[in-house]
Amino acid sequence: MSWLDVCDAEDIDLEDVIRFDHGDRTFAVYRSADGAVFATDGLCTHEQVHLCGGLVIDNTIECPKHNGRFNYQTGAALRAPVYDALATYPARLNNGRIEIEVIKSSNSKNNNGPPL
Ligand code: FES
Repeated sequence: MSWLDVCDAEDIDLEDVIRFDHGDRTFAVYRSADGAVFATDGLCTHEQVHLCGGLVIDNTIECPKHNGRFNYQTGAALRAPVYDALATYPARLNNGRIEIEVIKSSNSKNNNGPPL
């Protein structure tokens, strides 16, 4: 496992999302209402818009372009026009820092996305 340091946990509000770029990949990193952390691919599977501008509602992220929704904890596509799941990645808190592990995802089909 290779964990990447993202940011201080306090840098993401509860029920919010930020963009995190690493190499030629981009991710969305979330904090839920109870402070748990999660990570997905950054780009919507519909038209490749970044989800960091979306709205976090409970355990979902609503895409800012066409309002498609995903469960950011499982990656499941929940509302049209999105039908393909997001890849998700392990995320954890470590001494107040958020870390994600990006070598393996839950869904290799969407693992890399297009280059930035
Ligand atoms: S680009 Fe995300 S729903 Fe269309």
